[in-house]
Amino acid sequence: MISNSQKKILLTGATGNLGVALGTFLKKKYFVHQPLRKTLDITNQRQVNAWVQSHSFDSVVHTAALARMKTCEENPSLAIETNVIGTANLVYAILQKEKETQKEIRFIHISTDGVYDGQKGNFSERCETLPYNVYGWSKLGSECAVRALKNHCIIRGSFFDPQNLIFPTAATDVFSSRIPLDEFVKAIEFLIENTVCGVLNVGGERKSDYERYLMYKKEIRPCTQEDILKDSGVPMAKDASLNCSKWQKLRGEF
Ligand SMILES: NC(=O)c1ccc[n+]([C@@H]2O[C@H](COP(=O)([O-])OP(=O)(O)OC[C@H]3O[C@@H](n4cnc5c(N)ncnc54)[C@H](OP(=O)(O)O)[C@@H]3O)[C@@H](O)[C@H]2O)c1
Repeated sequence: MISNSQKKILLTGATGNLGVALGTFLKKKYFVHQPLRKTLDITNQRQVNAWVQSHSFDSVVHTAALARMKTCEENPSLAIETNVIGTANLVYAILQKEKETQKEIRFIHISTDGVYDGQKGNFSERCETLPYNVYGWSKLGSECAVRALKNHCIIRGSFFDPQNLIFPTAATDVFSSRIPLDEFVKAIEFLIENTVCGVLNVGGERKSDYERYLMYKKEIRPCTQEDILKDSGVPMAKDASLNCSKWQKLRGEF
């Protein structure tokens, strides 16, 4: 068994919101490869193969993605290229490496609560997936590639950074199970250590965006989903809340 300090992790998307927090946290315990896009552009299959071949790692946390819904809507080909093809490139290279080395690599994939239809909420892992925008479809496509790996965990959820709530308003009629960034980071670390496989919803209590953000930003003002839609025009969930009983049970068991 490999001890934590010897364990090597490949973290993709290390410059992103989640990647920065995760990199900082994981570096305290593990050796973490954090290649920048110029070194490991997931859309460049040759570069991905070469990088994966020439580095040693036991686990991957794949956060790199085109994660902005508006950008995905405006540029669906880039969403497919990054989220679907980019993830498939990485999975392909890892499958080759596993075959050559006869060693399984743990793959933690950050998906989204946006793969469900976003209407009635309380989605369990067994619910039908029916994304409501390009971002969600592209993330669902990424999940398909990841399922080809034996030792994978697909995390569906969403997070927010309490220190960086930039919007002046939040909707009172939009619900989710979104959790603070540091909690999401800890959940990922837990899933590196505990080899739970398959799809896992990770989240907290169902709350409206307004109710949730008000706890961290007292001056935030209430608005409605209609107000947000008028501004962005990007289809969004009304209720993306998750049934996280599988996750709660796992945490209790370990
Ligand atoms: N934000 C949320 O609430 C939320 C909710 C559910 C799921 N997620 C998922 O969580 C993950 C992280 O989200 P985030 O908010 O941290 O995203 P983010 O801040 O937009 O960061 C995206 C990261 O992906 C990298 N990236 C993009 N295209 C790449 C490419 N072709 N090759 C290599 N790296 C590339 C970016 O690198 P550069 O710095 O070079 O651009 C950046 O490091 C994503 O998979 C997202 O789908 C996010």
